[in-house]
Amino acid sequence: MTHTSTSFPDGFLWGASTAAHQIEGNNVNSDWWRKEHDPAAGIAEPSLDACDSYHRWEQDMDLLASLGFTDYRFSVEWARIEPVRGTFSRAEIAHYRRMVEGALARGLRPMVTLHHFTVPQWFEDLGGWTADGATDLFARYVEQCAPIIGEGVAHVCTINEPNMIAVMAGLAKSGEKGFPPAGLPTPDEETTHAIIAAHHAAMKAVRAINPDIKAGWTIANQVYQALPGADDVTVAYRHPREDVFIEAARGDDWIGVQSYTRTKIGADGPVPAPENAERTLTQWEYYPRAVGHALRHTAEIIGRDMPLIVTENGIATADDNRRADYYAGALDEVAAGIEDGLNIQGYLAWSALDNYEWGSFKPTFGLIAVDPETFERTAKPSAVWLGGLGRTRELPRTSA
Ligand code: BGC
Repeated sequence: MTHTSTSFPDGFLWGASTAAHQIEGNNVNSDWWRKEHDPAAGIAEPSLDACDSYHRWEQDMDLLASLGFTDYRFSVEWARIEPVRGTFSRAEIAHYRRMVEGALARGLRPMVTLHHFTVPQWFEDLGGWTADGATDLFARYVEQCAPIIGEGVAHVCTINEPNMIAVMAGLAKSGEKGFPPAGLPTPDEETTHAIIAAHHAAMKAVRAINPDIKAGWTIANQVYQALPGADDVTVAYRHPREDVFIEAARGDDWIGVQSYTRTKIGADGPVPAPENAERTLTQWEYYPRAVGHALRHTAEIIGRDMPLIVTENGIATADDNRRADYYAGALDEVAAGIEDGLNIQGYLAWSALDNYEWGSFKPTFGLIAVDPETFERTAKPSAVWLGGLGRTRELPRTSA
């Protein structure tokens, strides 16, 4: 049977994602802010005002809703909510509650991420995730988020990309700088254990706030593909970087699947894409089919009953036609997965806005362009097309 489109399953999430530090601006009490201003850290440029979404979130939501999206994933910033250990800002909690209510008022269901890479400086000074008491400190912060997420928030993500956090900790220990390359260097094992414990504590705290919230975490899927004869090497390479975090989601309400490109693995480990392969602005291989592999692999590890939500997927490019082409290829994979009976419950593109890509504004992942001087937002043609699918509630099939 051939299909030209596949209907969204009931309740399917359709939206775009952002993260506080990447769009808000002036996240001055966070570890990243300090790093960005430390010449020894080797960061190309600081986030400064970013997209000024701290003040312009209403415009962002207006645009997303008018484009046809029905869901918006954003994060709340621990460094703002608890700028000093044990001191919680009522004003910041009220700010994020206004965002939740603002989303709902516009017909956007909010998915709230509680931690997306940045921590308060004081937490980093204690030693970060592996410090004594880190889990309890995180759980206490989550409890304090009750007024934000207690009502009207159907989905909460505890921690974004724990595997990237463990890899970044590994990089820091080995004295290397920057954001990890695709394929991922070795994760720090102690951080892996700590972050899994923090997730489980946060799940408990979220359920205590409101047992109806569907909570989970989101994993950076690297789409490791074994070259002939390298199956065992691939499994061994992948396990500490990916599978261990997928396995730790057992018992959660859903799992977030995030993918961008693939990594081929040969007998000696990762093999770079050929010189002539098309690359994006992050230098990753252009590979729209990544998400299909990521969804199938996640289901294989955790079991087919676990709800899968694509919580990030996209491309950094200055050519919006390539972005549209990437999304068409990716959605074809999502549709094929749904037809094959995978329990896919949503698709959230990365990213709503061109934003601060962890060290630089140059890799533009946004569906919406942001003028760096005036902060004026302009939806790109890919956003008009992608958002519009939310009105028909149909995923196009390009390969059927
Ligand atoms: C992160 C985002 C990031 C994106 C592109 C993911 O690793 O969750 O914060 O901007 O991928 O690199």
